Amino acid sequence: MSELLFVNACVRGERSRTLALARHFLSEYAKIHPEVTVTERDLMADRLEPQYPEVLARRDELWNAGKLDDPSFAPARQFAGADSIVIAAPFWDLSYPAILKIYLERISVCDITFGYDADGNSVGLSRAEKLLLITTRGGNFSLPETEWMESGARHLKALCAMYGIPSFQLLCAEGLDDVRNDKAALLAQAMGEAETLAASF
Ligand SMILES: Cc1cc2nc3c(=O)[nH]c(=O)nc-3n(C[C@H](O)[C@H](O)[C@H](O)COP(=O)(O)O)c2cc1C
Repeated sequence: MSELLFVNACVRGERSRTLALARHFLSEYAKIHPEVTVTERDLMADRLEPQYPEVLARRDELWNAGKLDDPSFAPARQFAGADSIVIAAPFWDLSYPAILKIYLERISVCDITFGYDADGNSVGLSRAEKLLLITTRGGNFSLPETEWMESGARHLKALCAMYGIPSFQLLCAEGLDDVRNDKAALLAQAMGEAETLAASF
């Protein structure tokens, strides 16, 4: 059975527009792909510790001892083993909330999600064929004059290359906090895009 890993970084919980968009995508996806198991990793519940010196020292100690089966590496093993991945995270400070960065640091483990071949070249070790980022943004960061500032989707796309995940996709509603925009219409449009994407993802 195939597994989709859903990483929930929507800090505002049930009030989150990003989470509403992600839940709509996942419910449409489940209708079309009943054979796929969806496993949620809720980063608010996880409360993963940042890599403070003692956390990193412990990780290095375990890694150097070859103990990649230690429970602290479980998030990395889960990520590496998923068949497809959906990350939902609001756009914060031009990227995403810190809890997602903590998670990404936790799963970026050499010899689990990525590694190096005998010639020293970086190789991705993650099984997933595709990763979808679902986000909502207050402003519009797809315009020619603002697109360069966007650092969330850009970072995740680069990480996909490192992890060996060939396809990165983005589902985004933006301009939601711009008083000139019809927020409900923008969100409804993104919900429609979620339905189309659920069929092809
Ligand atoms: C802490 C914080 C930082 C934010 N930073 C940005 C930003 O840099 N650019 C932007 O366009 N919107 C920013 N926003 C607005 C959010 O991207 C927007 O309201 C989004 O829809 C929130 O998603 P949510 O409803 O899932 O929480 C920020 C919001 C918060 C709470």
